[in-house]
Amino acid sequence: MTGSKQRDRQGKPLKPSAAASATVPPGGASRLVPLIAETTIKQKVEELGHRISQDYRGMHLHLVSLLKGAWVFTADLARQLQLETSVDFMEVSSYAAAARSSGRIDIVQDLQASVRGLHVLVVEDICDTGLTLNRVCRELRRREPESLKVVSLLDKPARRVEPISLDYVGFDIPDKFVVGYGLDYRQKFRNLPWISAIAPHATDLPDRKGT
Ligand code: IMP
Ligand code: MG
Repeated sequence: MTGSKQRDRQGKPLKPSAAASATVPPGGASRLVPLIAETTIKQKVEELGHRISQDYRGMHLHLVSLLKGAWVFTADLARQLQLETSVDFMEVSSYAAAARSSGRIDIVQDLQASVRGLHVLVVEDICDTGLTLNRVCRELRRREPESLKVVSLLDKPARRVEPISLDYVGFDIPDKFVVGYGLDYRQKFRNLPWISAIAPHATDLPDRKGT
């Protein structure tokens, strides 16, 4: 675990043995390896919120949160912004993004409102191959926002298949499948307050990606 000590729900530091067992979800095997601690994530989100607030000072910022993985990050980041802010949500299929070279994306759930003329910040949980964010940005640009930037909590640069420019990144991580803080494995573990890697032997990951 990087950063400071794991804490219990009351904020008291956990003893090492308790911290280790706290990473095992109810009913789960000990296959989650802690990667980024709750307190480390909190600090980083505060830092990102501060930078973004400075960059957009005096402007209205419209967040486009990519479901489902980015909902936890979006909720925490939005509360760190000292800006007039609105939020909308979009869900796209990452299978389709990976499988297609046409540049189209499958929008599972579209935004409720137009982004035309708005300063848009796309909020993503993790950038992996880069296909999803590239396609989302292409689609949003077509809708003529005033400006378009991207914040991704995590980046796995080793997996990139398309170059992409990320305006704000929380953490670069190694090429591991991670869960927690919104990220899932088969829709599970999104509620973990920290980020863990799944031990490779415990999974059949190649046929499956989160959203
Ligand atoms: P990309 O199109 O390959 O960049 O994929 C991005 C999407 O795949 C993200 O929005 C995530 O939902 C999902 N994803 C990629 N890597 C992971 C991971 O390690 N854990 C959970 N979901 C992931
Ligand atoms: Mg996602």
